[in-house]
Amino acid sequence: MKNVAIIGCGAIAKNHAEALLDSPHAALTVVCDLLPDRAAKAAAAWKARAVTDYQAVLADPGVDVVHLCTPHYLHVPMALQALAAGKHVLTEKPMALTAVEGEQLVKAARESGKTVGVCFQNRFNQTAAHLKSVLDSGKLGRIKGARAFVTWHRDQAYYTADPWKGTLAQEGGGVLINQSIHTLDLLQWFLGPVAELKGTASQRLLEGLIEVEDTAEATLRFTSGATAIFYATNCHVVDSPISIDVEGENGSARLCEDLTISYSDGTTETVQESGRAAGVKSYWGIGHKLLIDSFYLALSGGSGKVIDAAEGLKAIRLLEAIYTSEKTRKWETIG
Ligand SMILES: NC(=O)c1ccc[n+]([C@@H]2O[C@H](COP(=O)([O-])OP(=O)(O)OC[C@H]3O[C@@H](n4cnc5c(N)ncnc54)[C@H](O)[C@@H]3O)[C@@H](O)[C@H]2O)c1
Repeated sequence: MKNVAIIGCGAIAKNHAEALLDSPHAALTVVCDLLPDRAAKAAAAWKARAVTDYQAVLADPGVDVVHLCTPHYLHVPMALQALAAGKHVLTEKPMALTAVEGEQLVKAARESGKTVGVCFQNRFNQTAAHLKSVLDSGKLGRIKGARAFVTWHRDQAYYTADPWKGTLAQEGGGVLINQSIHTLDLLQWFLGPVAELKGTASQRLLEGLIEVEDTAEATLRFTSGATAIFYATNCHVVDSPISIDVEGENGSARLCEDLTISYSDGTTETVQESGRAAGVKSYWGIGHKLLIDSFYLALSGGSGKVIDAAEGLKAIRLLEAIYTSEKTRKWETIG
């Protein structure tokens, strides 16, 4: 049984707490937030001890694992300190603001011998996991290409509600690093390494109101020879379901909530996303519970999968290349 602390008791902390309360391998013992009210409320709801200084969490020998549910710019500094204090880390996305920062965490994780996990929970959706296994099996034949769309609604009120959002220093970017990072991760998970991309990232409806981009697009070339088109915006009027289509020689797959695979021999295969989350934040998916269960199964010596720091870094390299391509107007090689 691992004793766990959640650092950052804002919106996403609930997904972590509920998964932990349900886990046979983890006990949520400490919750930490700079804001005393948030820490106290979380502690009461989840029957944990409240602290306001995360250094107290790191100094506590009773804490085995920390979950980082803090603003983006704190993920790497907090993760490095937690590893140095001998803790395992499960960090919310993005694992870093930049690839250089991410590499530091990959190195520190390797040298510490501790586990670092990154919350790309959508990989655990039944539909995404099935599509990945079909693609890996070769059943769809050579993959020619894909397209992915993320069209969500984030208005000025969203950006003013939390001081770190919409700022380059603390959020590190907009729709790319925050909302559509999951979809970039899925694209490279499904189709393999990206060789180069060309893209744009700019402000449209939120122009002048925030520092970060509200809209981005890219064309990607994979090392396999496949290509993909990607579009993401926070300027839609609703949060539409994300859609990813993959075109293979032997058929095509459409992932949009449910998964439908149509083979060229006329057969089709459908997987319904059985664990669809309810409520206004349903587009976050139910993957947190699956990812957290898997993380603790792995920590307990079982067969769980961890999306480690090196895996988490792949999407950072892609979105950073889109930011660079916006400036250079050129194809950017992915290192
Ligand atoms: N995986 C997903 O699908 C998903 C969904 C939503 C949010 N997130 C991620 O979760 C993270 C948090 O997002 P959120 O929406 O919950 O943000 P939030 O602003 O609601 O919560 C962040 C909390 O961290 C606290 N905090 C800030 N500095 C701190 C410090 N030094 N010590 C302790 N607490 C501190 C804040 O007071 C706040 O309560 C972000 O990285 C975000 O991208 C992931």
